[in-house]
Amino acid sequence: MIDTDIKTELCNRREKLLAKMATNSVALFFAAPEVVRSNDTHYPYRQNSDFWYFTCFNEPEAVFAVIKQHDNQARYILFNRKKDPLAETWTGYRLGQELALDTVWVDEAYCFDSINANLPKILKGKDIVYYADEQYEYADKIIKKALRAVIKEGKSTGLKPISISDWRHVVHKMRMFKSDFEINILRQACDISAQAHRRAMQKCKPNLYEYHLEAEILYEFACNGARYPAYNTIVGSGNNGCILHYENNSAPLKEGDLVLIDAGCEYHHYAGDITRTFPINGKFSQAQREIYDIVLASQYAAIKLLKPGNSINQVNQTVIKIMVEGLVKLGIMQGDVDKLIADKAYTEFYMHGLGHWLGIDVHDVGRDRLYLLKPGMVLTVEPGLYINQNADVPDQYKGIGIRIEDNILITSSGNEVLTSAVPKEPSEIEKLMANKVSVIE
Ligand code: GLY
Ligand code: MN
Ligand code: MN
Repeated sequence: MIDTDIKTELCNRREKLLAKMATNSVALFFAAPEVVRSNDTHYPYRQNSDFWYFTCFNEPEAVFAVIKQHDNQARYILFNRKKDPLAETWTGYRLGQELALDTVWVDEAYCFDSINANLPKILKGKDIVYYADEQYEYADKIIKKALRAVIKEGKSTGLKPISISDWRHVVHKMRMFKSDFEINILRQACDISAQAHRRAMQKCKPNLYEYHLEAEILYEFACNGARYPAYNTIVGSGNNGCILHYENNSAPLKEGDLVLIDAGCEYHHYAGDITRTFPINGKFSQAQREIYDIVLASQYAAIKLLKPGNSINQVNQTVIKIMVEGLVKLGIMQGDVDKLIADKAYTEFYMHGLGHWLGIDVHDVGRDRLYLLKPGMVLTVEPGLYINQNADVPDQYKGIGIRIEDNILITSSGNEVLTSAVPKEPSEIEKLMANKVSVIE
């Protein structure tokens, strides 16, 4: 990524936001605070996704103000930490105000320490302030203090009171549609994530532990410049594959079991999100194949239908039908397929949605699965069947949890699967697992 590309991208995003703002208004974005892990150590810093979207600036204690002036011209102001040689010796580089002008591309930059003094001056006389209420306590305090000062002064000078509005519905709609710049980064996040899954398949063998596969995944992420996963890595073997958000990753990998890995890296603040399920010993059993084939068939059917004009929820109905028909055929469910669907009896085995939007957040903004798909949207497609060891089903199916998750970009003609580099056809998985050494090294 080069600076001119980032600058152009940020300009485009800011201009789209400005077009939605009223004349003589200001929108405020607050950086994520640091989060304590224990005592005086912190979690690795992760910027707020909306703040990142408009700044690509990765420091805490920062506020970005977008001002749409009376003449509709833009003015961008950043409040950020001041340079501090002592603090920088301990915790690292700070951009400071001078460099912010040409690095974050703002018209003015001031010390974060001056926000309480300066924000009332920015708000004074404006018709509207847009901000996200209750996102961070520190942000609410700053805003409320500034608003109190402005209201107090307004009362004495007769200024029209400022209205308050939330930018989230506007910004999150923007974020649902990925630009070429974003798609390029998402492709890389997906490629690295896929490579990590291939590595885990090749390294897998009985008597390792789930955390060994987690280590292989994280190793591959980090070696490719993606130091952090986009979410906690799930490595669930045997019945653990039936726990949707399993994170212990501490059990031994048993001969004859499946292992479900749900892992994706975060690359330049964009997430990959892939799940594959494969046999620990490299060969699917017949019962495992029977369930796997249902999930795979439903995923292929879904991918065919995830195209402009359809919604995730609508496509999920096809997935449910394939699953229920398959489960009835295997004797895992009994009764009339349509009635079982109407009664939602399948939720014992398939209890989550078909997919979600993907972007700067792994569960990206735009939570509604009823949106009609349009080109530029990126989402996951992740059907799964989870047959708990305690389920009342034929013995051979107990403890089988299978999910197959890919990431797709909606295009004008349909979609493009961004994560096809990791196999999901049983024969291809078995081939890759048999070829343990030569493919990785
Ligand atoms: N990894 C979280 C999810 O698949 O939604
Ligand atoms: Mn996932
Ligand atoms: Mn997902």
